[in-house]
Amino acid sequence: MFRTLCVVAAIALGVSIAVAQQDPIKERKALMKANGGQAKIGAAMIKGETPFDLAKAHKIFATFEDTATKAPALFPENSTDTATADDPFTASPKIWQNLDDFKARLEKLGTDAKAAAASVKDLDSFKAAFGNIGKNDCGGCHEKYRIKKS
Ligand code: HEC
Repeated sequence: MFRTLCVVAAIALGVSIAVAQQDPIKERKALMKANGGQAKIGAAMIKGETPFDLAKAHKIFATFEDTATKAPALFPENSTDTATADDPFTASPKIWQNLDDFKARLEKLGTDAKAAAASVKDLDSFKAAFGNIGKNDCGGCHEKYRIKKS
């Protein structure tokens, strides 16, 4: 019985891994969209549109950390995609010319998000940590490695 379960679990796992690797472009865009959604929640707290909420802050940083873990596998060589009307952006070919830098930036996003989750206590500390990540990690990478296709 136990063996059967293991086999079934292994097959299920194998299938989900195969699916995950099938469309890395779609998957990384979905991850980044989740980051964007979380960043909006953070920005609303900073602007005072919604009250500061530590649980929300932790969810934001956990989402960023998740991206840092998963994204390195989702940029196979030269995987730029064709721009569409509702998605004019893609990954720049520069990523694969500077892969070490690109991966180091993802790693830094993970380190910064983890440190932020441990240190943020209130709105002021959230502002500082979230602002730093948004500007240097998200913004810094997009500036260099995310392009708008014409
Ligand atoms: C190491 C580089 C890097 C970091 C760090 C990074 N991004 Fe991105 N991001 C990209 C690239 C490259 C794309 C374009 C991917 C594509 O179109 O295939 C992208 C795309 C996006 C998109 C558009 C997704 C879509 O709809 O197609 C959003 C939103 C986004 N990032 C938000 C964020 C936020 C918020 C952070 C910080 C928490 C962040 N990103 C950190 C490289 C990065």
